[in-house]
Amino acid sequence: MPTVLIMGVTSAIGRAVAAEFAGRRYDLVLTGRDPEEVAAWAADFTFRHNVRATGRLFDALEFPSHVAAIESCFEAAGGALEGAVVSIGYLGDQALAERDPAEAGRILDTNFTGCISALNILANHFERRRGGFLAVISSVAGDRGRRKNYFYGAAKAGLSAYLQGLRARLFGAGVRVITVKPGFVDTAMTFGRPGLFLVASPQSVGRGIFKAIQRGQDVVYLPWFWRPIMLAARAIPESVFKRLSV
Ligand SMILES: NC(=O)c1ccc[n+]([C@@H]2O[C@H](COP(=O)([O-])OP(=O)(O)OC[C@H]3O[C@@H](n4cnc5c(N)ncnc54)[C@H](OP(=O)(O)O)[C@@H]3O)[C@@H](O)[C@H]2O)c1
Repeated sequence: MPTVLIMGVTSAIGRAVAAEFAGRRYDLVLTGRDPEEVAAWAADFTFRHNVRATGRLFDALEFPSHVAAIESCFEAAGGALEGAVVSIGYLGDQALAERDPAEAGRILDTNFTGCISALNILANHFERRRGGFLAVISSVAGDRGRRKNYFYGAAKAGLSAYLQGLRARLFGAGVRVITVKPGFVDTAMTFGRPGLFLVASPQSVGRGIFKAIQRGQDVVYLPWFWRPIMLAARAIPESVFKRLSV
């Protein structure tokens, strides 16, 4: 059976993508930080979809553990991973990050340096295999820095730029790199947050990610209408944008 690695099984979006693959008879390697939660979700996927789902631990902030953690995922897949989906993120508290370097660092390290550390290891694996895919959940927040979430937005912008370069590097090796840019999605990350609009379900975003992987798209906005919205947002001059309360 082909096997896909889903990093971030406790994320509703990550699980929605995992369900798309499991529904098509893919085996799964699922990562998370909490051993009990990871084991419970692995059992749930095995039972519900009748596939082989194996749990492994990965913490984006535990840099020294990354090589061993991801090698353990390769081993769980029997060395034959077809691709990986990275659904790890931390929105954080923007107001706190403005005065607390620890919160600022956590936002940047979870969304940017931690994910990139994992992606470097995965990229080398797929490049050696000369095939596969890396689908990484960035965000529309990275398309324009906003006063209300510019730590998170900066990290996602950096992640999107990294993925542009990685895509070009891996193109010749036949490895697809898919940058996923969702708008607002109804998950634990956004629960109870004010000011959300056009909120999508994790299931619809999961379907969109699966389709983008199948089609080999480079960058996908989910739902699609966020592409023109962000085009318009990027077109607003800085002299105007800095006066907006967005
Ligand atoms: N929801 C939205 O509106 C939205 C919009 C655009 C992009 N996104 C992106 O979509 C992805 C999935 O987020 P979500 O909406 O499904 O939210 P979520 O439920 O809060 O999921 C976030 C995931 O990141 C994991 N995570 C956080 N810190 C971690 C760390 N140090 N090491 C490893 N894993 C860590 C969480 O694991 P724990 O359960 O262990 O904390 C969880 O699995 C993220 O990249 C997010 O930035 C979300």
